[in-house]
Amino acid sequence: MSHELFLAFSKLPPAETATLVIYVAQDGAPEGEAKAVWEKTGQDFAKIAKSVGFTGKPGHMIDLVAPSGLACERLIVLGRGKDGALDKPSAWADRGGSLMAKLEATHARAVAVILDEPGLDPRRVAELAAGARLRRYRFDKYRTSRPENGPEQMSVTFCLKDVAGLDVAVADRMAVVEGTLMARTLVNEPANVLGPVEFAGIANRLSDIGVTVEILTPDDMADRGMGALLAVAQGSERPARLVVMQWHGAGRDDAPLAFIGKGVVFDTGGVSIKPAANMEEMKGDMGGAAAVTGLMKTLALRKAKVNAVGVIGLVENMADGRSYRPGDIVTAMSGKTIEIVNTDAEGRLVLADALWYTQDRFRPRLMIDLATLTGAALVALGHDNAALFCEDDAITNALLAAGHETGEGLWRMPFGPGYEKLIESRFADIKNSGGRKAGSITAAHFLRHFANGVPWAHIDIAGTAFGASPSETNTSWATGYGVAVLDRFIRDHHER
Ligand code: BES
Ligand code: MN
Ligand code: ZN
Repeated sequence: MSHELFLAFSKLPPAETATLVIYVAQDGAPEGEAKAVWEKTGQDFAKIAKSVGFTGKPGHMIDLVAPSGLACERLIVLGRGKDGALDKPSAWADRGGSLMAKLEATHARAVAVILDEPGLDPRRVAELAAGARLRRYRFDKYRTSRPENGPEQMSVTFCLKDVAGLDVAVADRMAVVEGTLMARTLVNEPANVLGPVEFAGIANRLSDIGVTVEILTPDDMADRGMGALLAVAQGSERPARLVVMQWHGAGRDDAPLAFIGKGVVFDTGGVSIKPAANMEEMKGDMGGAAAVTGLMKTLALRKAKVNAVGVIGLVENMADGRSYRPGDIVTAMSGKTIEIVNTDAEGRLVLADALWYTQDRFRPRLMIDLATLTGAALVALGHDNAALFCEDDAITNALLAAGHETGEGLWRMPFGPGYEKLIESRFADIKNSGGRKAGSITAAHFLRHFANGVPWAHIDIAGTAFGASPSETNTSWATGYGVAVLDRFIRDHHER
């Protein structure tokens, strides 16, 4: 495997350390352990800092090659910014990502990072390590020749005085990282490799870590009357799947939390075909399903004390002789009839049956769906916030807080009777598109018909699942958005 990373924690740097890293506060000089290290070089810190313009801002670096007085090959001094700049947990992850970027740029292999500063608790160290791991992620399995982008293997030892409680905190945070990386890889995979059946096969492997997985075939779905999901799937050679994942981490009779994901492995738009420009990005139209699957992995890995179900609707939206068409009227599992006015508004049809099935079967205390549902969400909020639709203020505030903590941002959007009017149909109970106006909102209104009154939140991740410019913790196209924020929400509000 390429780009491996081995992380360790100890009081002292290992003997074979080639790259030693110390931190310096903004407008400061090395202190404590960092000072002891620097003094061995016999160099004038202020003079060197001035000559390279180092002020200790995050991202600033002094790179001392073959330092005299030290056994290592390289001493890297990194800026850690002002005190208080690291109050948000996600700021620590960013710092870990920024560290990894420097280590890769300098081709570091055996690294020790001296951490000796106020306010360092296990959770922050875990964030730092998580950020480093997230930044290290590459999706380059399809390149037969690799561009030069850092060493193949790297070990990083974080050195701190007090390592008590670290193993637990780090393992816990790494469970979330694993879920995020799983989601990224699922989104990055091309649709010729990852169809509904292949995706279901990957989800099925979560049974190895204690998740109960069931897979429904088109016949199973037809038996249950899932006419909306199946209408989308009917134009594809590749059969649909509905995957049900259950994690039991709490008492038997605790109603579960339910997470529902849109899993359109490729969205051509169907007969209402999309323009050619950027259509390749529609391999990521299963970002909601990827996040739900990654989340189930996280919950199982960290043995979360919660009951959770993940339901993902996996289909391909193709233009073909068997495709559904504009004007068709289909009947959802709920019994509602839907007039198809645009076959490119397919995600809500998949979710309609997935939501109904979920509330009908599990009676969850809460349902949250994630979907790359509307281009309008991307237009409204760009890549920095997902659109959150939820009529319950307590759930909304909890989700917004989790977004703030993790850096996976959310922004609340409205419901209202005027929007509902836009999806009234001339022939059926509702139609599947309200047209150009308020596209994300009318999509949410459509979904609301299928939540059946169960407390429910809808998160439109069309802008956040992929395509963001590189960040401190991610340089890959897919972001894995959703795993961290939902994990945080569960921890803070639904675990005892
Ligand atoms: N998968 C798309 C939405 C999308 C667009 C996600 C760009 C990510 C990036 C969705 O199925 C779609 O096509 N939505 C239409 C709805 C319209 C036909 C009512 C849209 O947003 O234009
Ligand atoms: Mn579409
Ligand atoms: Zn779509």
